[in-house]
Amino acid sequence: MSVDATAFAQAMSRVPGPVTIATAVDSAGRRWGFTGSSFSSLSLDPPLVLICLDKKASTHQAFTTADRFLINILALEQPDVAMRFARSGVDRFDAGDMVPCEFGLPGLKDAAARVACRMHVVLDGGDHSILVGRVEETHVSGDRIPLVYSDRAFARPVADVQMAGAR
Ligand SMILES: Cc1cc2nc3c(=O)[nH]c(=O)nc-3n(C[C@H](O)[C@H](O)[C@H](O)COP(=O)(O)O)c2cc1C
Repeated sequence: MSVDATAFAQAMSRVPGPVTIATAVDSAGRRWGFTGSSFSSLSLDPPLVLICLDKKASTHQAFTTADRFLINILALEQPDVAMRFARSGVDRFDAGDMVPCEFGLPGLKDAAARVACRMHVVLDGGDHSILVGRVEETHVSGDRIPLVYSDRAFARPVADVQMAGAR
C-alpha cells in the first residue's frame, strides 16, 4: 500500500527547508539554474552535499551532465529571485543579478552563502535525480539571514526558540 500523494506532500510541507538556486553552465556556454529547497549537506569527509532535481525539469539534462554546479543559498530579501528561478518558459538570467562567482559559475553576490561543487555522482531518486556534489569552495555572507521555505511559504528562521534541555 502506498501513501496518498496529497497526504505525502502535506506532511513534507511541514519540513522547513532552505531556499537555494543551483546554477551550471553547459558545454556551449549556456547558463542554467533552478530554485531548489531539497538541498542538504550529506558528508563531512569527503565534503558532500546533495540537491534533488525533477527528471521532467527543463534543466535536468544540463545538470545531470554538468561537471560542476554552484549552490546559492538565498537570503531573506531574495524570495523574488527564488520565484523567478522556479518560473517556466522565461529567461531566468534576464534580470542580470547573476554574476560569475566560484568556478566562474553564475552566482548571487549577496546570497547568504555559496557552495561550489564538482559533480560526485548522479543517483536515481524516483521521479527525481539526486545530484551529489563534492564541495571545493564556499563563500559566506555573515550579515545575511538565510531564507526558509516552510508550509509552502517563504519564512524567516526563528532564532529565539528556547533550547529546552540543551546544554
Ligand atoms: C521554493 C521552491 C523550491 C523548489 N524546490 C525544488 C527542488 O528541490 N527540486 C526540483 O526539482 N524543483 C524544485 N522546485 C521547482 C523548480 O524550481 C522549477 O520550477 C521546476 O523545475 C520546473 O522548471 P522547468 O520550467 O525548468 O521545467 C522548487 C520551486 C520552489 C518555488
